[in-house]
Amino acid sequence: MALVTGGGRGIGAATCELLAQEGAAVAVCDLDEEPAQAVAGRLERGLAVACDVTQRQSVESTVARVTDAFGALDILVCCAGIIRDNLIHKMTDEDWTAVIDTHLKGSFLCAQAAQQVMVPRRYGKIVFLSSTSALGNRGQTNYSTAKAGLQGMARTLAIELGPFNINVNAVAPGFIETRMTEATARRMGVDWDEFKRLAAERTPLRRIGQPADVAGVIAFLCSEEASYVSGQTIYVRGGP
Ligand SMILES: NC(=O)c1ccc[n+]([C@@H]2O[C@H](COP(=O)([O-])OP(=O)(O)OC[C@H]3O[C@@H](n4cnc5c(N)ncnc54)[C@H](O)[C@@H]3O)[C@@H](O)[C@H]2O)c1
Repeated sequence: MALVTGGGRGIGAATCELLAQEGAAVAVCDLDEEPAQAVAGRLERGLAVACDVTQRQSVESTVARVTDAFGALDILVCCAGIIRDNLIHKMTDEDWTAVIDTHLKGSFLCAQAAQQVMVPRRYGKIVFLSSTSALGNRGQTNYSTAKAGLQGMARTLAIELGPFNINVNAVAPGFIETRMTEATARRMGVDWDEFKRLAAERTPLRRIGQPADVAGVIAFLCSEEASYVSGQTIYVRGGP
């Protein structure tokens, strides 16, 4: 029984598909209901839920609905994300707040609602999406701050929720081919194929990542094979 935010596209959609292949019932939660419905429709036990992770009420009613439908919640993966890149002197309050709210507050609200269901059952797996941008990236003060914060959130919740047999980890992808990276290329005025080629050239494994590359690590962190791994950030970036 899994709930994936941002499940309608990119890394979230690939995660929904892999968790479902491994036998999970999956709630595909997204701000955009249409892609969520398309993904859920392809899964054996899929449920599409429109959810805005920045809103407490939306998150709480989503977790309640999913728990009602599935009878429990074992896995939470927080993939919902946006970017609003700008250099510091041009970054607006709105750019800052939208990104911080979606990534940091959104993951906080989802984890808080999920642990309420997980703690009484003494079982749970939570995965946050950090990023290599946590290490610093030009034009991403808001995003980098949020992604670094999520690593701290994973470590802290691993300590608080560990006694209840709940594992909390983060994955930190590098360049993954999704709508998000395509939007970055557009914003920078760089041809998308050229952008991908340059990213592959900078990567030790000499290719860019695909959503399935990240989904595989997320699914591993949600599996019993990883049951003694908690509070970690795993970089998924084709190199160290
Ligand atoms: N693509 C990359 O290179 C990359 C690298 C590192 C980290 N990440 C992170 O991985 C996660 C997924 O990114 P992606 O590349 O698949 O992006 P994407 O744009 O393909 O998908 C993100 C999804 O999140 C949804 N979303 C946005 N705001 C939401 C909200 N308030 N409530 C619910 N859903 C919302 C969008 O509708 C979209 O379907 C994000 O957290 C992103 O920051 C991506």
